[in-house]
Amino acid sequence: MRLGGPARYVVEVEQPIEAPDAYNFAKLYSLPTAILGGGANSIGRDEGFPGAIIMNKIRGIELKPSTENPEVFELKAMGGEIWDDVVAFACEKGLTGIEALSKIPGTAGAAPVQNIGAYGQDISQVLKSIEAYDTTDGHFKLLTNKDLKFGYRKSILNTTMKGRFFVISMTMTLKKGQMARPFYNSLENFIKENGETDFSPSSIRRMVSAIRADKLPDPAKIPSAGSFFKNVYIPDSQVDECRSRGLPVYQGADGNKINSGWLIEKAGLAGKLIHGFRVNEKAALVLINECATGYEDLIEARNEIANKVYDRFGFKLEQEPVEII
Ligand code: EPU
Repeated sequence: MRLGGPARYVVEVEQPIEAPDAYNFAKLYSLPTAILGGGANSIGRDEGFPGAIIMNKIRGIELKPSTENPEVFELKAMGGEIWDDVVAFACEKGLTGIEALSKIPGTAGAAPVQNIGAYGQDISQVLKSIEAYDTTDGHFKLLTNKDLKFGYRKSILNTTMKGRFFVISMTMTLKKGQMARPFYNSLENFIKENGETDFSPSSIRRMVSAIRADKLPDPAKIPSAGSFFKNVYIPDSQVDECRSRGLPVYQGADGNKINSGWLIEKAGLAGKLIHGFRVNEKAALVLINECATGYEDLIEARNEIANKVYDRFGFKLEQEPVEII
């Protein structure tokens, strides 16, 4: 987002055994800690961070066939591995399960923390377990999918136990094969427009990459943190009423969602420059830092957008990226 001041210390962890070293260093000097993967979904304050930013740089990918089924594989990625390299690896091996998560910026270790999701897939559907360093008792632990209590963009790692576990590795169960139709609307539209017939993992990866490149700014080139707001979830009891108001409600396995990008667009904000932040024209959920001078501008922009949506539709938008405090 091109915001935030310097950190007092940055500690890079390259081997699992360096995780305890990093935390012991912080403890010795009574420094607060914050974990960073790629930083694509994190926002810093102008005053910087007074403690140690612990960066996960543990690399490596390992693929093991399952003992019971020749079509099933276990893919283990170390926490500091680039997420999209992991997706590319799985697709090259013809494995399905994460191909729709192509081109999501960040690291493999960050993927389960916020249960990254796109085009109908999310990490909770394939994650078997993670190995993590428990900063409270100094032990390495194995946490299963169930232990992580996944929800929309959340797990215990970013809610009830935020900051407690440093993700050493994540293991997913992936299968030979391909995604089942019908796909998510935007993917189906792309398939129709381009006459696509191959739905293999590599081919879906190519399509998702093209859709994202067209709609979402590349955070390496344009300062943005991806979707800046979460989508709105409503209880079953409100679905009919919302639909009668003309709101687009998607009923998925994880609940009833209203597209926040749509709400922002209909509130007349797509393409607008608000306190230095451009509301992305094609995906109004994305804010681009065009000429903001600091964190204050972000608060102003966030409040202005959230208030306009609230006044118009009565929903309170929540911020999606994490703040380093
Ligand atoms: N939807 C469906 N099924 C469909 C089409 C849409 O359930 O067939 C729902 C979506 O779940 C969402 C809404 O409709 O509630 C709008 O979907 P759209 O594809 O337009 O994407 P979005 O809401 O702008 C979300 C993610 C993106 C992800 C895209 C594509 C959030 C906050 N954002 O964006 O993730 O790439 O869907 O799946 O959930 C990010 O988090 O930074 C991010 C870019």
